[in-house]
Amino acid sequence: MTERIFNFSAGPAVLPLSVLEEARENLLSLGNTGIGICEHSHRGKAFVAVAEECEALCREVGGISADYKVLFLQGGASLQFSMIPMNFLSADATADYLVTGAWAQKAQEEAVRLGKTHIACNSAERNHCYIPKTISCSGSAAYVHYTSNNTIFGTQWHRFPEVAAGSTVICDASSDIYCRPIDVSKYGLIYAGAQKNLGPSGVTLVIIRNDLIERGNKNLPTMLQYRTHAKNDSMYNTPPTFGIYLMGLVFKWIKANGGLAGAEQRNRAKAGRLYAYLDQSKLFKPTADKDSRSLMNVTFVTGNNDLDAQFVKTATAAGLDGLKGHRDVGGMRASIYNAFPIEGVDALIALMKDFEAKNG
Ligand SMILES: Cc1ncc(COP(=O)(O)O)c(C=O)c1O
Repeated sequence: MTERIFNFSAGPAVLPLSVLEEARENLLSLGNTGIGICEHSHRGKAFVAVAEECEALCREVGGISADYKVLFLQGGASLQFSMIPMNFLSADATADYLVTGAWAQKAQEEAVRLGKTHIACNSAERNHCYIPKTISCSGSAAYVHYTSNNTIFGTQWHRFPEVAAGSTVICDASSDIYCRPIDVSKYGLIYAGAQKNLGPSGVTLVIIRNDLIERGNKNLPTMLQYRTHAKNDSMYNTPPTFGIYLMGLVFKWIKANGGLAGAEQRNRAKAGRLYAYLDQSKLFKPTADKDSRSLMNVTFVTGNNDLDAQFVKTATAAGLDGLKGHRDVGGMRASIYNAFPIEGVDALIALMKDFEAKNG
């Protein structure tokens, strides 16, 4: 088999090796059923048990109470950008959006199609390199939407946004879900495409408070109403069975490795090492403000586009893949999600040191 390399991709991204090994076995036969995981009927006993275990582990790891429903949907986080205002924003109402990056803005642009939005903060004037210290909510918003980690710009909220008591807070946690402990009870809805911290692409985790499900617009196509998926335990139509299966293995892996507290400890160690190197480097500079730095996506530049390109090429040749930054920021981006090993961070630092010695 080809040796695995260090995959710094922003998503789909690296998964735990033990998870992939277990999945490899179950592709041919799920347990002793004689039928592979992708070949089981979603209504059959074997898959229903897989889905139930996935949900139970998701709840256990995240500390999700019975006040919330856990849904496994399709259409990516991008469909949630539309489903949220479709369900909860009427034409005469206003939703507050915290615009801290391109994905946050895309979410806001979908809401504008359906109602009014108030931009409670916007970091665009500095190319989203920071999380604003203050926000100004409209006061009467149908909901407040924010993006907990800005994948492209390498920034992350390290506090819960200051919203008025009783606000319905909705969070796109696509790129940092379960990277650290989370108090779900503060949220109306949390959603995340699986392909960074939870599993393969094609399944979207939605954690939604029960009262919100009921509040949703009833005059929508069936598939676009949360109540449809809630009533049918995410099986109104054929669910993304493999994605749910793999997500379950990832939850099990998180649980076995110290839960979310363990995940946070490892993520802080990895990001800490990388930022500590960047802070003393004379060549590489982090792009995000210190207090806003992401534990998941570390963005940095040399300030010279040719040198950046040369570094990415050198890294790729050395088996460090996916380091090219997003075109909106340029330079490099090291995505070091939950499953990314600390040995990969050390390899990157060693390579940067070597590159700096030769090119600094
Ligand atoms: C924060 C964030 N939100 C939304 C998306 C879009 O997700 P999807 O491709 O699952 O629609 C991404 C993708 O990278 C993301 O990073």
